[in-house]
Amino acid sequence: MYYTNKFISILFVLALTVHHYHHQIECHRTDGLHKFYQSKLAANQTSNVNSKASSYKIGFGIGDITGPAAEINMMGYAKIGQDTKGIHMRLYSRAVIIADQTGSRICYVNVDLASTTQIVKILVIEQLEKLFGIGVYGHENVMIGATHTHSGPGGYFQYLLYIITQEGYINNSITAITEGIVKSISDAHYNLRPGQLTYNKGELLDTSVNRSPASYIMNPNMSVQSMDYIIINLFKDKAIDTNGTLMGIIDWFAVHGTSMNNTNKLISSDNKGYAAMRYEEDYNGRLRIGKGPFVAIFAQANEGDSSPNTKGARCLDTGLPCDFIHGTCNNKNELCVASGPGKDMFESTKIIGERQYEKAKELAKETGELVQGRIRYVYQNINMTERTVNLDNNTMVKTCAAALGYSFAAGTSDGEGAQFFQQGTKLGDESKFFDFIRNIITKPSEEILECQKPKAVLLPVGEMKFPYQWTPEIMPTQMFEIGDLVLVGLPAEFTTMSGRRIREDIEKIYEDSGRKVHVILSGLVNSYSNYVTTYEEYQLQRYEGGSTLFGQYTLHAYRDQFKNLAKSLTSGETVSLGPKLPNFIKTEISLKPGVLYDWPISKYFGEVLTDALEQYYAGSRVKVKFCGANPRNNLHLEGTFLTVERLKNGTQWEVQATDAHWETMFIWNRNSTLLGTSEVTVMWDIPLDVEPGTYRIRYFGDSKSLRQKIEPFVGETRPFQVRSLSEFENEIYSFVKRFDLSQKGSFPSWK
Ligand SMILES: *[C@@H]1O[C@H](CO)[C@@H](O)[C@H](O)[C@H]1NC(C)=O
Ligand SMILES: *[C@@H]1O[C@H](CO)[C@@H](O)[C@H](O)[C@H]1NC(C)=O
Ligand SMILES: *[C@@H]1O[C@H](CO)[C@@H](O)[C@H](O)[C@H]1NC(C)=O
Ligand SMILES: *[C@@H]1O[C@H](CO)[C@@H](O)[C@H](O)[C@H]1NC(C)=O
Ligand SMILES: *[C@@H]1O[C@H](CO)[C@@H](O)[C@H](O)[C@H]1NC(C)=O
Ligand SMILES: *[C@@H]1O[C@H](CO)[C@@H](O)[C@H](O)[C@H]1NC(C)=O
Ligand SMILES: *[C@@H]1O[C@H](CO)[C@@H](O)[C@H](O)[C@H]1NC(C)=O
Ligand SMILES: *[C@@H]1O[C@H](CO)[C@@H](O)[C@H](O)[C@H]1NC(C)=O
Ligand SMILES: *[C@@H]1O[C@H](CO)[C@@H](O)[C@H](O)[C@H]1NC(C)=O
Repeated sequence: MYYTNKFISILFVLALTVHHYHHQIECHRTDGLHKFYQSKLAANQTSNVNSKASSYKIGFGIGDITGPAAEINMMGYAKIGQDTKGIHMRLYSRAVIIADQTGSRICYVNVDLASTTQIVKILVIEQLEKLFGIGVYGHENVMIGATHTHSGPGGYFQYLLYIITQEGYINNSITAITEGIVKSISDAHYNLRPGQLTYNKGELLDTSVNRSPASYIMNPNMSVQSMDYIIINLFKDKAIDTNGTLMGIIDWFAVHGTSMNNTNKLISSDNKGYAAMRYEEDYNGRLRIGKGPFVAIFAQANEGDSSPNTKGARCLDTGLPCDFIHGTCNNKNELCVASGPGKDMFESTKIIGERQYEKAKELAKETGELVQGRIRYVYQNINMTERTVNLDNNTMVKTCAAALGYSFAAGTSDGEGAQFFQQGTKLGDESKFFDFIRNIITKPSEEILECQKPKAVLLPVGEMKFPYQWTPEIMPTQMFEIGDLVLVGLPAEFTTMSGRRIREDIEKIYEDSGRKVHVILSGLVNSYSNYVTTYEEYQLQRYEGGSTLFGQYTLHAYRDQFKNLAKSLTSGETVSLGPKLPNFIKTEISLKPGVLYDWPISKYFGEVLTDALEQYYAGSRVKVKFCGANPRNNLHLEGTFLTVERLKNGTQWEVQATDAHWETMFIWNRNSTLLGTSEVTVMWDIPLDVEPGTYRIRYFGDSKSLRQKIEPFVGETRPFQVRSLSEFENEIYSFVKRFDLSQKGSFPSWK
C-alpha cells in the first residue's frame, strides 16, 4: 500500500513575538459584550510597549464556541443518531490580527468546527461592523478557517444538504459560534501590541496518511515521494531570547479531524484541538484552558484525501486491506474502517495531536525567517456554476451545476456512508432502484448528467431549490499577503495534489513578478462546498471525486481564480467583490424541538446518585453520577458543567479541572423524554502527577420547569482522598513486608 509511515509532511513555521506583553483580561460573557470590551479598552490605553524591534502589531484572542452538548446531531459524519451527549473537550475560536505600519490589517481565525460556513461569516462580519465600524474588519480582511473536527454539534449552515441530519438549522449552535468568534476577534483587537513574526517549516512523519491512494496515483508527476508530502505551517515566537514574550503560534498541517470516529457522541476538538490545548497549557498553565493570553492555532490545510488513522483501512471481518478502488470488503463499504495509531479513538486523538504539538514546539525553537513587509489582501466571490475556463491548449471548458455522486453516499474509511453504495461508482454503474427514488425527489436535467460525467449523479443538488438551496453556488475566494507569506483561503476540502497545484501556480506568478514567496494553504475557509479533486482523481470517482460539486473542471476553475487573485496582489490592480453572498437564514426551517422540560429522576436536581469512593490513587478513574437536567438549557459558554476541586488549607476549594480538560468527561444520558428525566456522569482520570489531597467533584446544571423557567443548581460529591502512586507503592511495600515477615520471618529486597 502507499500509505503507512513513509508519509512525510512539510511544515512551515511562522513565529510571532511581542515585546512586554503583560495584559491579560478575563472574559465574563454574562457581563454583556459591551461592558466586557470597555474593560479591555482601558487595558489597551494603559499598555506600555517597546516598539523598537517590531515590524507589526499583533494581537491574539480566544473564545468559547461549544454549542449544545445534548441531542444535536454532530457535523462531519452525517450519521443519523450521532447526537451530542456530553463534552470531552470544549470547542474554541482562536483569532490573530496582524497589522503593518500603515495600519493595513488582516485577521485570521481558526474554529474547532467541521467547517466555517457562509452564514457564520456573514453574521460575524455584521457584528464586527457594529462593534468597530464599517471598514475595519470586513469579508475582505477576515479569513475564518476550521480544524475540521467531526465531533461538534451541527446546524450552523444555511444550505439544506448540511443540516438535514440536524433537522434544520440550530439557533443555539449558530449563536454560540458567532458570539465566540466575535469575542476572539475583539480580544485580538484589544490585545494588539508591537511584535515580530517569524516563519519556519519542517517535516512531520506518521501523522497523516493518504486515504485515497487509488485516486492519487491517477495524477501525472505523481511519485510515492511526492505523495509523501503535506504542508504544515506555523506561527511562533522567536524572540524569547531577544527580550520578547511569546504571544502565540499558528501551525498549518493537512490531516482530517477524524481521529474520533463516528461512534463518538462527546463534543471534542479532535487531534488539532488537543495539540492547541497542550501547547497553550505550557504557557498559560493547566487552569487557564481557553482563556489565553497565549494562543496556539492548529489550522487545517489541503486535507481532502488525508486521514489521521495511520494504521490505514482494513476489513472488520477479515483484517485484510479493503478493495483498493471501491473501498469495500466483500462488496460492503461499511466493513472497511480505518483506525490507529492508538488502541482506541481517544488514544489515537492524543497521539496524532501530540505529534503535531511536538513538531510545532520543535520548530518554534529553531531560528526562523523574520517576516517583514506590507500586509495586503484580496477577496472575491465567484459563481462556481457554469464557469468557463480556458485550458492551456485554448479549449474552453465549463464547470457544472453542483451534484453529488453515488460515491459520495458511500462515505470513506474514516466514516462509512449508506449501505449499498460504494466508492468508484461511475456513470453506467448506477442502480436503477436508487435512480428511481432520486427521480421522485428531483429528476436531474440531461445537462447536469452530461456535464458531471464520469460522475454517476445521485443528487443534483445544484438543481435542488426546495425549500431553499441545498448547496452554495457563490463561493468566496481570498488571499492574504504578509511580507513574503501568502495565505490562500480554500473554501472546500482540497485534496493534497489539488492544493499543491494551486500553490505552484501562485509561486510562479510571484516568481514572474520577481518575488519568491512562501505559499500557505488554509482549508475549510469562509464557506463549505464539499471536496475538490484534480481532474485525474475525479475520473476514478472515489468519495472525494464523487463529492467534487462542480464537475471535473472544478479545480481548473479555482486555479484560474487564485491565479487572478495572485495577479491582483502582484500588480496592485483591484478586483471587484463579485456577487453578494446570499443570506436566507431568516427563512430557514428548524424542526428540532427545544427542551420541553426537566424532571428530577430522584429527589432533586444535582442529587448524587453514585458517590465517589473514599480514596483513589493517581492513574485511576473517578466516576460519579448526578440527577441531571438538559445541558441545552444553558451552554455555560466560557464556563463549565463540572469542576474537580482540591481542598487547600482546610477551608478553600481550588478548581483543578473543568469540562474542557482532556482528563475529564461530562456525559449526559436522557432517561425519559416524556418524563424529562436524565442523569449526568462525570469521569475524572486522575493524572499520574496529581497533587495528593482531599478532592471533590461538582456538577453545575440548569433545569427547565414545566412553566419554562430555567433555574441553575449545583451537585457535589463527598470529599475524597487522592493519593500519589509513590504513596500507593509504599503502602504495598509495607503491606507485603508485614505479610512476609509474619509468614516467613524474612523478606527479599523489594524493587
Ligand atoms: C488600542 O490599540 C489599538 C491598536 O494599537 C489602537 O488602534 C487603538 O486606538 C487603541 N485604543 C485606545 C482606546 O487607545
Ligand atoms: C436565534 O434566536 C434569537 C432569539 O429568538 C433571535 O433573536 C436570533 O435572531 C436567532 N438567530 C438566528 C441566527 O436565527
Ligand atoms: C509535470 O512536471 C513537469 C516538469 O516539472 C511540468 O512541466 C508539467 O507541467 C507537470 N505536469 C503536470 C500535469 O503537473
Ligand atoms: C535584552 O535585555 C538585556 C538586558 O536588558 C540587554 O542587554 C540585551 O541587549 C537585550 N537583547 C535584545 C536582543 O534586545
Ligand atoms: C471507533 O473506535 C472505537 C474505539 O475507541 C472502536 O471500538 C469502534 O469500533 C470504532 N468504530 C468505527 C466505526 O470506527
Ligand atoms: C450562478 O450561475 C448560474 C449559471 O449561470 C445561474 O443560473 C445562477 O443563477 C447563478 N447564481 C447566482 C446566485 O447568481
Ligand atoms: C485540450 O486539453 C484537454 C485536456 O488536456 C483535452 O481533453 C482536449 O482534447 C484538448 N483539446 C485540443 C483541441 O487539443
Ligand atoms: C495556605 O497556607 C499557607 C501557609 O500558612 C500560606 O502560605 C498560603 O498562602 C495559604 N494558601 C491559601 C490559598 O490560602
Ligand atoms: C438512566 O439511563 C442510564 C443510561 O441509559 C441508565 O444507566 C440508568 O440506569 C437510568 N437510570 C434510571 C433511574 O433509570
